[in-house]
Amino acid sequence: MNKSEEIAARFNRFVMPTYSPSLTLARGKGTRVWDADGKVYLDFAAGISVVNVGHCHPRIVEAIQRQCAELMHVSNLYYTDNQAKLAERLSRLGLGGKCFFGNSGAEANEALIKLARLWGHDQGKYEIVTMTNSFHGRTLATAAATGQIKVQKGFEPMPEGFSYAEYNNLESVSMQVGEKTVGVLLEAVQGEGGVVPADDAFFKGVRALCDERGLLMLCDEVQCGMGRTGHWFGYQGYGVQPDACSLAKGLGSGFPIGAIVSNTKLADVFQPGRHASTFGGTPLACAAALATLDVIEEEGLVRRAGEKGAEFRAQLSAFVGKYAHVTEVRGSGLMIGLVLDQPVQGLVERLREMGLLTLATAGNVVRMLPPLNAKDNELDEAVEIIEEALEESQSAGDAAASGGDSVSN
Ligand SMILES: Cc1ncc(COP(=O)(O)O)c(C=O)c1O
Repeated sequence: MNKSEEIAARFNRFVMPTYSPSLTLARGKGTRVWDADGKVYLDFAAGISVVNVGHCHPRIVEAIQRQCAELMHVSNLYYTDNQAKLAERLSRLGLGGKCFFGNSGAEANEALIKLARLWGHDQGKYEIVTMTNSFHGRTLATAAATGQIKVQKGFEPMPEGFSYAEYNNLESVSMQVGEKTVGVLLEAVQGEGGVVPADDAFFKGVRALCDERGLLMLCDEVQCGMGRTGHWFGYQGYGVQPDACSLAKGLGSGFPIGAIVSNTKLADVFQPGRHASTFGGTPLACAAALATLDVIEEEGLVRRAGEKGAEFRAQLSAFVGKYAHVTEVRGSGLMIGLVLDQPVQGLVERLREMGLLTLATAGNVVRMLPPLNAKDNELDEAVEIIEEALEESQSAGDAAASGGDSVSN
């Protein structure tokens, strides 16, 4: 038994099988990770859009180490400088109102749902329209908000108050709006749904519909936020502003933190006692997030994600038509989907064997979310590995194409 197998055996014996891991990772630096037996991989999963500035960036490591020795945690019954600074920076980057901090994407979306319900409460409004193939989390309310049956199945009865409209179909959203509707919740680019960007007219149309009908527009920026799409937040690519958005994943570069950011209209809806979190926005979590913002700004990573993403997608687009089953390359910035007309699980496994970590999403999409500071040669190397795998699978008569959906998020 090698080291990886030894760890996997202990893991499988004692950790509940909510995921089905395929690799034992032990170390990371920049875009590369090493398994427990020393094999190196290019990490184009990046913790599913968490490690946006690369693994163990020295600035993040230093900020966490320094803050650890100063003050790790105090209750939110007290003011802390880091939380105030982080809230100010997030507010100024986007919606201009106030922030609430939690620890994960699901918690951030729970807070967003509660905020919308509290805002609409006196008008008797609580229902939120969400999108088919969306993903908002695994708590009961966020699973109910998620427009995918497979996420809800077996956990019924689901909390009520959600209805589902077809993504990129404004008419369908409009049809779901009723007397009790308080808002519309959507991702600017659906991640788990298969890397599907919102159409420009659709996204702008949702804003206009919300304005017309007195609804809140709520954006889940958990996966597509923090520079990933070539904008600080995915919604900024459409030139419209939601009333509030949720953040997590890339915000802390791997240190758990979630947040909601609101406009001024919603800034004071939550009053003492209405919502809370023991660990939300600790000095330590906020130090990691502040350092993340510094790195993204100083390394120009928002712009880089846009430019390198466009180049990377253009390189992959050459495979459409060249390799029989590749039908489309889509995405925004460095949030990229290579779409096949058949399941991609086998291809993703082959890419892993060849040293490239990607994600099998929505059955037929190879999703890639490399660090925003992945080097040019690392992006080129990934393209070469993908081409080699496609070439191999084509000449082997598609033996690599098999399997269904892997568990990601
Ligand atoms: C768009 C989106 N929202 C929410 C979540 C849930 O985040 P977390 O796993 O941190 O609870 C995810 C996770 O994949 C996500 O992609």
